[in-house]
Amino acid sequence: MTNKYIYFVANWKMFGNIKSLNSLDKVIKFSKHNKNNKFKLIYCPPYTLLNLFFEKLKNTNIDVGGQNCHFLEKDGPHTGSINSKMLKNIGAKYVIIGHSENRSLGETNSIINKKIKSSIKSNLKVIFCFGETLKQKRKKLTQKILSQQINAAFKNIKNTNNVLFAYEPVWSIGTGVIPRNNDLENNIRFIKRTIKKRLKLKKPKVLYGGSVSPKNISKLKEINDLDGFLIGGSSQNSNKFIDIVKKTFN
Ligand code: PGA
Repeated sequence: MTNKYIYFVANWKMFGNIKSLNSLDKVIKFSKHNKNNKFKLIYCPPYTLLNLFFEKLKNTNIDVGGQNCHFLEKDGPHTGSINSKMLKNIGAKYVIIGHSENRSLGETNSIINKKIKSSIKSNLKVIFCFGETLKQKRKKLTQKILSQQINAAFKNIKNTNNVLFAYEPVWSIGTGVIPRNNDLENNIRFIKRTIKKRLKLKKPKVLYGGSVSPKNISKLKEINDLDGFLIGGSSQNSNKFIDIVKKTFN
């Protein structure tokens, strides 16, 4: 997989403060020294840090993205929310949509569909998260669920060129448990086939997320056809994040 262009998305979730900005220095230095490598680093910090991250990273080749947005594109009376236009306005290039931590709070496929539409309209690149729960996996429903999630999220959406598809088995997020290589490879193949067929996308970019760490990256990088990683916990520590990138290419 190292001959390809690989995405590394740092999803900071509800972590980080002003001091965390200093931790970017190491990553900026690393990325400058490795300009020729085929990878893209994307930071998705909490909203409170988004513009500060953008300012700090604007002369580098590292991009920033939001972790979510409201489904309405227009401004309006929605206390505590931000929309895709606002993200774009402060320098975000990407937005994570459909994360299981939001799905578990009641975000439905139809809301996700609206959020994706609004983000595409605002010219953001969408990092679409989807994946089965442990219960669904045990019932052998994984592929059925994945295809349902993809179909529902992209209903009536024609242009999916700027979407990164992040497969995140819910049982793998934050647990330290990753899928067996065989299972993961089968699911990635199934996902690519489904996207090609349903969304008529010739070369879909599919990432894996769920407990990616410097310890398991050597195993995960063996998966054929993977285009990158969505990294939660390990991305908040610059050394670990850099280690993951380095080991992917070694
Ligand atoms: P994790 O999170 O790497 O901490 O498991 C991944 C994610 O939720 O995107």
